[in-house]
Amino acid sequence: MGYAEVYESWKSDPEGWWMAQAEAIDWDRKPSRALFDRGENLYEWFADGMVNTCWNAVDRHVEAGRGDQLAIIHDSPITGTIHKITYAELQSRVASLAGALTAKGVGKGDRVIIYMPMVPEALEAMLACARLGAIHSVVFGGFASNELAVRIDDAKPKAIIAASCGLEPGRVVHYKPLVDGAIELARHKPEFCVIFQREQEVAALKDGFDFDWHGFQAGVAPADCVPVEGNHPAYILYTSGTTGAPKGVVRPTGGHLVALNWTMKNIYNVDPGEVFWAASDVGWVVGHSYICYAPLIHGNTTIVFEGKPVGTPDAGTFWRVIDEHDVKCFFTAPTAFRAVKREDPKAEFLKGYDISGLRGIYLAGERADPDTIEWAQTVTGKPIYDHWWQTETGYTIAGNPAGLEALPVKMGSPSVPMPGYDVQILDEAGHPVKAGELGAIAVKLPLPPGTLPTLWNAEDRFKKSYLAHFPGYYETGDAGMIDEDGYLYIMARTDDVINVAGHRLSTGGMEEVLASHPDVAECAVIGVTDQLKGQLPMGFVCLTNGVTRPHDEITAECVKLVRQKIGPVAAFKLCAVVDRLPKTRSGKILRRTMIQIADAEDFKMPATIDDPAILDEIKAALQGLGYAKG
Ligand code: COA
Ligand code: AMP
Repeated sequence: MGYAEVYESWKSDPEGWWMAQAEAIDWDRKPSRALFDRGENLYEWFADGMVNTCWNAVDRHVEAGRGDQLAIIHDSPITGTIHKITYAELQSRVASLAGALTAKGVGKGDRVIIYMPMVPEALEAMLACARLGAIHSVVFGGFASNELAVRIDDAKPKAIIAASCGLEPGRVVHYKPLVDGAIELARHKPEFCVIFQREQEVAALKDGFDFDWHGFQAGVAPADCVPVEGNHPAYILYTSGTTGAPKGVVRPTGGHLVALNWTMKNIYNVDPGEVFWAASDVGWVVGHSYICYAPLIHGNTTIVFEGKPVGTPDAGTFWRVIDEHDVKCFFTAPTAFRAVKREDPKAEFLKGYDISGLRGIYLAGERADPDTIEWAQTVTGKPIYDHWWQTETGYTIAGNPAGLEALPVKMGSPSVPMPGYDVQILDEAGHPVKAGELGAIAVKLPLPPGTLPTLWNAEDRFKKSYLAHFPGYYETGDAGMIDEDGYLYIMARTDDVINVAGHRLSTGGMEEVLASHPDVAECAVIGVTDQLKGQLPMGFVCLTNGVTRPHDEITAECVKLVRQKIGPVAAFKLCAVVDRLPKTRSGKILRRTMIQIADAEDFKMPATIDDPAILDEIKAALQGLGYAKG
């Protein structure tokens, strides 16, 4: 069957179609049906089945006689090491860790925060939680204590599992003090921490509270897999919303297993036993779905890569890893290829490597610009597939199902909706628009299995953020169009979320930090276009009356404050002092107009602007930061 037939067969019987996909998963008790309508546009999938994620990702492959196959390859150009773990080894490591967690009282439904760099132990911690039915919440290492504290207070974890340190090129990230700082800031106090000591930095442990990763596993009985209900939360992953308070996306267990398993062959075109590589980080949704869960559920070998596209040691790293481990499918963010292209435009580094085994390259996380796609296609000779998804969905909404049928690629489009997604473009009143017309991208409810059923502890926010604007639809927060052939184009966010190097960040969150500076009376943060990272945040601050300190001093403090409060990942380095911000007569800050000036785009003077002269000052400030040229 080709794409059109499969999509049609889903559409004509969505529940039957998903029940058929659920056959590929080992259930302790099969679900009696697929969809459970909870009313008020809330849905769950496979709710009355019983299942365990770790069993499906690890144990069942060992039981099927594939224990000697590699499950994880840890390739760390930063430490210069490669380490391989078979499924049988993974099973015993995860069972032992889960046993130690059980001995300390962690069980089904307890939350565990994981704050770790790109080491196999991060996946083992996730799987150990899954084994027990404990709900993990992984926090990206580039977030600072304050962000970690916000997540501790929301998730209320019984335990935190962390590493002593992370390794960024040229810098050791001291995780342990960041964890200690977060616990001090948080109102909720976890019962204990487990610290994986890395040889690059051994952290001091607090007696009776911090436990050494290996030490606390000594002598404990390994734990078995605990079956959980299909609608039991597998994990919570916090993502940026409009405000500084992150949204806790809940991932339901049953649908997650079924949907991710389907994507591996049909979208990524790999068979069990083959090597799959997603060069992302376990702290992001791509890392959850495609470094940890999907490849393991499907019986592939996954690569945990601790490095960067460039500088570790050079722009040939991607090609080296693909060659050395015989990678069949490679997934990364467009920004990573922009970094490689900038360093090595002629792909000289590729010459020494054989990437003939690679079938395709998949891009997501931000808009894939045609220049980057064309370059990657030319130098590798491989098909480049853009695909569009979100933390909320956990897997592709629109993509090119190459394992099913490789559809013609259209530059600038992530291709077509996957089975499960009825994607529509809506006008402001919620009516579908004609092909080729721009509008808000929405998905007709119910969303497919594995997508978020709600936000952690925040059902009202879930309804307000995603369901209220267009009744009967899930609002994606992206704007775009669908062409005559059914290809989707993602143009922009409709909210204040920006995308920096494939990382989703909230300008509202950064504004909250700037507003906390004692000299700042008012501020705005916008996302400006950047050749490498796609977007960069830029702050404008208006000072409190009477402040006479040098502006440079204040902007430097603002930059430092965002790094301290949010973390280095915010990449907040551009900040200017202005007298006033451009506003409408009703007082709304004209962020869109500021972005257009920064990007040197033509723009129409907003009819509602209070004082057009302010825009000259904004333009001058932007030029001072190297923008608004041309
Ligand atoms: N722990 C601690 N700090 C981290 C971190 C982590 N896990 N990841 C990034 N940081 C830090 C970086 O060191 C950098 O700090 P600096 O300001 O001191 O230089 C800062 O956060 C910004 O990081 P980033 O935006 O990633 O920039 P970079 O200059 O380090 O690298 C790219 C640029 C394009 C090479 C890099 O962003 C990249 O590889 N992106 C791919 C993105 C990706 O995989 N996205 C996931 C979605 S698919
Ligand atoms: P995240 O939740 O961090 O994965 O970010 C999701 C957001 O990233 C989407 O809502 C889009 O705005 C953007 N995004 C992800 N993939 C793509 C893509 N292929 N093309 C354009 N934008 C994308």
